[in-house]
Amino acid sequence: MENGIITKIVKVDPENIDYNIIKEAADIINRGGLVVFPTETVYGIGADALNDAAVDKIFKAKGRPQDNPLIVHIAELDELYCLASEVPKKAELLAERFWPGPLTMILYKRKILSDKITAGLNTAAIRLPVNKIALALIRESKKPIAAPSANTSGSPSPTEASHVIEDLMGKVDMIIDGGSTYIGLESTVVDMTGDIPMILRPGGVTLEDIISVLGECTYDPSIIKSEEAIIPKSPGQKYRHYSPKAKVILYKGHIEKVAEKINEDYDKLTLKGLKAGIMSTVQTRELYKGKVNICIGDRTKLLTISSNLFKGLRDFDHMGIDVILAEAVDEKGLGKAIMNRLGKSAGEIIEV
Ligand code: TXA
Ligand code: MG
Repeated sequence: MENGIITKIVKVDPENIDYNIIKEAADIINRGGLVVFPTETVYGIGADALNDAAVDKIFKAKGRPQDNPLIVHIAELDELYCLASEVPKKAELLAERFWPGPLTMILYKRKILSDKITAGLNTAAIRLPVNKIALALIRESKKPIAAPSANTSGSPSPTEASHVIEDLMGKVDMIIDGGSTYIGLESTVVDMTGDIPMILRPGGVTLEDIISVLGECTYDPSIIKSEEAIIPKSPGQKYRHYSPKAKVILYKGHIEKVAEKINEDYDKLTLKGLKAGIMSTVQTRELYKGKVNICIGDRTKLLTISSNLFKGLRDFDHMGIDVILAEAVDEKGLGKAIMNRLGKSAGEIIEV
């Protein structure tokens, strides 16, 4: 026990859900408590979205700035119309194609959603996840559930229950351990309030995916040129994020040159007495023989990389690494989301 709350940790098999546990979790939600649950993207820290006092507990548990609005999770498409005051045809088409799934839509909100949850904005972020435990919890509690990623604000999002325990033990009532999350990066956030849909945070549903349905979609300019002083439309994107304790250096360029430079810098850091760690891929790990490295996946199967990225950052921290040397990936498809997170966690970017 820490911070005064006893956190109950329970395991639930998503393929064989124990509904007694879901009922207990739903009771906690309905009493204004906090339940951490898995989704297909990352773990979420959930509260009744219609209870301001409960939502407030989320901000406190995470240490999250009050001006960063939360995502509201629903289990049925109908609920969208109770929360959003306008649902344009384009949003309906995206819902039809990508829900349930890793897509969050920004829509004008109804009054039922308070300023607490939307940080005073006239829009709300709404998502219908596909994870069976998440859906069971939302259905059983009969409430829309507000849930940001279940990490301490600023640290990498949790992709397994042990990460949540690390960050939120003693700060939530229950943690549902449903195994590793599938995608490993937070949902795509797309603003549907303008004429052309605009991605505010890249994720598992890609720009290409949205264009295939609607014919058009853009990125918030701050995603394309993060080095310039463009204010992101999504409040959460302006904060330092996804940061392990170690410094992250991101290497961009031709992969062989990148590996050469990483090897060189690793040796320099080691000479200085610093503990370096390399985030490698199936294609490059052999090039770092004898050096501390974690292979996070296959460059030709980006889902293997997205699902292991945050875990890799946390694992290096557990190893007491001072500097993480990370390879860039191609920014196409899911690569855009991977590079967005790596870019935000990086203290330095080196182009070779
Ligand atoms: O995959 C996910 O989306 C996970 C799981 C738990 O569902 N949740 C998640 O929540 O990543 P969070 O709170 O960590 O990220 C929500 C993002 C933030 O960047 C926030 O600023 C943005 O969505 N957001 C929320 N409401 C918004 C709004 N009305 N307008 C613009 N951005 C908004
Ligand atoms: Mg987050």
